[in-house]
Amino acid sequence: MLYYKRKEYPAFKIRHIYSNRYLRLNATGVKNVAAIQISDLTKTFGDVRAVDNISLEVRNGEIYGLLGPNGAGKTTTLKVIMGLLDPDSGTASVMGLNSLENPVEVKAVVGYVPEETVLYESLTPRELFEFIASVRELAKASISSRVAEIAKGLNFTEYMDKMIVTLSSGNKQKCLLMAALIHRPKLLILDEPFSGLDARVVRILKDAIQIHVDNGGSVLLSTHIMEVAQALCDRVGIIDHGKIIADGTLEELREQSKEESATLEQIFLKLTEQVDEVTEGVDNLREALSG
Ligand SMILES: Nc1ncnc2c1ncn2[C@@H]1O[C@H](COP(=O)(O)OP(=O)(O)OP(=O)(O)O)[C@@H](O)[C@H]1O
Ligand SMILES: [Mg+2]
Repeated sequence: MLYYKRKEYPAFKIRHIYSNRYLRLNATGVKNVAAIQISDLTKTFGDVRAVDNISLEVRNGEIYGLLGPNGAGKTTTLKVIMGLLDPDSGTASVMGLNSLENPVEVKAVVGYVPEETVLYESLTPRELFEFIASVRELAKASISSRVAEIAKGLNFTEYMDKMIVTLSSGNKQKCLLMAALIHRPKLLILDEPFSGLDARVVRILKDAIQIHVDNGGSVLLSTHIMEVAQALCDRVGIIDHGKIIADGTLEELREQSKEESATLEQIFLKLTEQVDEVTEGVDNLREALSG
């Protein structure tokens, strides 16, 4: 029987995840397994049903946008997919790997940008990326040129040797994004990746997401920016109070909401029943600001 020292075990598994053989073995025998599959997923926090019996699929090669008001359940869903939270019931899987049973393997095949900044603030970005590369057992030479290229693209080169704690929030966001891209993941899971980024970087990030998909990758992202979702996503799911209330291409959502040539923003506000709230809010503001 083979014996692996405890500290070598994750690296051993990570290396094997990159081999097709391992993925095929773990793909539950299904060919062309979906990038992400969620079935009847529920997650509660005490009395709060953060995610309420949702099912959705992110297909290989597509950009799927998860949209929803604050507190709708987007981040909770993404954390369950990443194996960071255990669901109450139902399943989430990534490329055939069950998130609950294979959290290490899932993290190895996904590039995840979390909603909140979780960084080692006393390191510099360069030190952080070197640390991540060593944990993931990536060859240092290939990583440093890749990191340098991505940093250049994100206009981040001048911050590579500054302590993370001193960076602005937009630059911390870029740092998170770079950390997620280092291991060339097939799947990106991005929780509000555009927050805090300036217009130039938003433009670059949108292109980077598209290039990732053109190269055979898949993307699941959550966002509040309807224009970005409309321009970028192949399909979107609208989540409200923990439930998926609509799901599909823009055309399919127009049909579902009976709004022929509506924008995604108009459909979103209609389906989440926020149109009256928005009108009322604007009226109140107009009164308050003109008084
Ligand atoms: N750790 C937690 N403990 C208790 N309640 C939580 C926890 N995490 C999330 N919640 C609750 O679960 C619900 C869904 O939260 P979640 O963060 O998933 O929403 P979201 O759609 O990502 O919102 P936002 O757009 O504001 O980021 C909310 O009611 C939230 O308060
Ligand atoms: Mg969130």
